[in-house]
Amino acid sequence: MSVAENTGLTVAVIGTGYVGLTTGACFAKLGHTVICADVIPEKIESLSRGEVPIVEAGMEELVAEGIASGRLRFVLGAANAAEECDFAFMCLPTPQGADGAADLSYLLRAASEIAPVLPSGAIVVNKSTVPVGSAQRVVDVIGRDDVVVASNPEFLREGTSVEDFFGPDRIVIGAPEKAVAERVSRLYDAIDAPKLLVDTATAELIKYASNAYLAAKISYANSIANLCEAAGANAHEVLAGMGMDSRIGAKFLKPGPGWGGSCFPKDVFALMNIAETAGYDFSLLSAVVAANEEQLDRVVGKVRQIVGGELAGAKLAVWGLSFKAGTDDMRESPAIKVITRLQAAGVHIRAYDPAATVPLPGVARAETALDACDGADGLVVLTEWPEFGEVSLSDVAERLAYKRVVDTRNMLNTRELADLGFAYDCVGYGKSVVSHSLA
Ligand code: UDX
Repeated sequence: MSVAENTGLTVAVIGTGYVGLTTGACFAKLGHTVICADVIPEKIESLSRGEVPIVEAGMEELVAEGIASGRLRFVLGAANAAEECDFAFMCLPTPQGADGAADLSYLLRAASEIAPVLPSGAIVVNKSTVPVGSAQRVVDVIGRDDVVVASNPEFLREGTSVEDFFGPDRIVIGAPEKAVAERVSRLYDAIDAPKLLVDTATAELIKYASNAYLAAKISYANSIANLCEAAGANAHEVLAGMGMDSRIGAKFLKPGPGWGGSCFPKDVFALMNIAETAGYDFSLLSAVVAANEEQLDRVVGKVRQIVGGELAGAKLAVWGLSFKAGTDDMRESPAIKVITRLQAAGVHIRAYDPAATVPLPGVARAETALDACDGADGLVVLTEWPEFGEVSLSDVAERLAYKRVVDTRNMLNTRELADLGFAYDCVGYGKSVVSHSLA
């Protein structure tokens, strides 16, 4: 996208996490003047130097360009960002509360901070994923009839948030009046994507309904994979055959260790809570969550089987800690959940991840994928980092004490593993399909 002319619109972005930083940097690229606010002084200082704390493709260049153009700057405190804005985008965390409901305390606190300084006629836009009806709560906190609140949920995937911002399937804008939605929509004029202008509750629910459906689709794919293992079929071909139906679509049908991340678990539980509050028993989602928990246990079962039935005292190499490839985020990572279960069964873990560096209790860390394999009783692949597919399997065979691998992301070359004499298991191949017996 070429550098745009100044649009004359000023956007305050409150919160500089991966949603806020992406929104701010991308809006600056579109020609808006953007002031991003956070509450952490060190974060504001490092961002102002162009230092990007998250792993997001293209983000460093975008932030540097925004700062250089003078259209992107960072300030401490929400009020300092909002005092001259046309729009105030609320990009605060909405973590899962104890009862499953989204915790709006960060959002409402920021709304109360900007309420006194917002220019008359400003539009507050909820970008954070918030339960249906949250816009009204922000209206109540702001308590001004010359400021309106809209909803503009994000559909950004971690690791590809810049690409997703500039190339969305749709832009959803919810507002009490169409004229307000159209004003917010102006911000995205340079982006060629359908704009859906609806009321705020509808916009809020589209986000949850979309994320929960994607989680359901993955749980369905994992269940089909499990059935294929029992029935002796090849899940990857079954799922590929399904995905060729345009009504199903091929994306988000990859079986694996289960879904995780900072969004899916939170959003699925929040939607279940929204349904319960509204008096609807969303039993399908309960089954989606149960299938995801089962998937983690199945991975542990596969590891137990491949090391000969006894986990206690086993030494395992683990490749991958982040919740998916392309990000360093370990929040709600399936890899961490499997590791925790293995440790509880007495397994000693040595792990390698190219980006996720946060220390884990009791988990030794290796500098390379191969180092993690030294003397291990087997290897478990838990995150689909492309570099894992390039590691020499003959080197892996030499470094492991036993040639055993559970590849939960189905990314290693099964023919090569067979030729090297590995015992191999994955997700979705029936025993009759796996080309060699398990040790
Ligand atoms: C998700 C939504 O995709 C995004 O639209 C929303 O704004 C935020 O939440 P994200 O959490 O970054 O994005 O990750 P995503 O790429 O959706 O993957 C979520 C989980 O599903 C990961 O654990 C991933 O490994 C898993 N997954 C994804 C599968 O197991 N199989 C698939 O085919 C796709």
